[in-house]
Amino acid sequence: MRNIMVKLTTSLFAVLGMALLVVLVGAGEEARMATREANFEARAIENGAAIFAENCAGCHGIQGKGIPGVAPALNSPEFFKTRLQEVGWQGSLRSFIESTVNAGRPVGSGQYSAKMATWGQEYGGPLRPDQIRDVASFILNWEKQYVAVAAATPTPAPTPTPLPPDADPVTIGKAVYQAQGCAGCHGVPYQAPAVVGPSLEGLANRAGTTVAGQSAEDYIRTSILNPNAYIVPQCPTGPCQANLMPQNYGQILSPQELDALVQYLLTLK
Ligand code: HEC
Ligand code: HEC
Repeated sequence: MRNIMVKLTTSLFAVLGMALLVVLVGAGEEARMATREANFEARAIENGAAIFAENCAGCHGIQGKGIPGVAPALNSPEFFKTRLQEVGWQGSLRSFIESTVNAGRPVGSGQYSAKMATWGQEYGGPLRPDQIRDVASFILNWEKQYVAVAAATPTPAPTPTPLPPDADPVTIGKAVYQAQGCAGCHGVPYQAPAVVGPSLEGLANRAGTTVAGQSAEDYIRTSILNPNAYIVPQCPTGPCQANLMPQNYGQILSPQELDALVQYLLTLK
């Protein structure tokens, strides 16, 4: 007991001494500011979550994954990566979200049964500017999960490391998996969790019995070349959706890359 007290007192003095030093150097204020900012942002996200649940989830889904035919996904890698380019928006993603929510999309694209209403008070809607900002903070916060997976995934070298021609297909397949961004949706099997698509852990065990008449290899190859041929029932956040997995790997991958990828996936037992 006394020993612990002595240790505690010693550590306390050490901590106090360090804190004093920090204050002396003047970094204390900076740290406090950062904490305050982080707290402020956390509160904005929390408020935004409540606003989203009440006003937006009915169409965009509780998790923001969208509802087919009703409203598009906001919580998707594409929304964060390519949406601005797709619509030709020059500003930030935050400004895109805030403007869309403010003004709505009275003229729908015809793809959805519902129309995105005008939410901003300045457009006659119910939400104040600070509420629009908060709900945008909440949506923007979804990006972190995609960044986390990307960070957990070794970044592919800008110029692919030339693999020795005699490298085994599994090694090549693993490299193709990384380079093609499969991990962005499926995670890295046995290393980082899947986010959007089904986890591929144990794939080799079930692939041979998923579709009658298809061997494990056939099933995996078809899953990559023609993802809609069979829709996996369960994804990390609910039922899997068709058309989410890119449909053009047949054009992107060389036959050797595809073979290697299949060989790698066949090792996931
Ligand atoms: C009645 C259903 C409905 C509700 C409720 C709704 N939205 Fe939408 N939202 C849509 C539809 C439909 C679109 C797509 C419009 C289009 O492009 O045709 C959309 C588009 C968007 C977009 C742009 C997405 C993109 O990729 O272009 C954002 C951002 C958005 N909504 C946010 C919100 C927020 C935040 C709320 C709650 C304050 C909300 N929506 C409530 C139906 C809805
Ligand atoms: C944008 C997200 C996304 C990307 C990127 C993606 N997938 Fe998928 N994948 C999915 C979704 C969603 C499903 C489930 C729906 C379906 O069956 O089509 C799926 C299904 C699969 C399946 C079937 C899994 C099972 O349990 O039966 C395989 C195999 C697969 N993907 C491999 C790959 C490979 C290999 C790559 C990279 C070359 C890749 N995916 C890239 C989203 C993605």
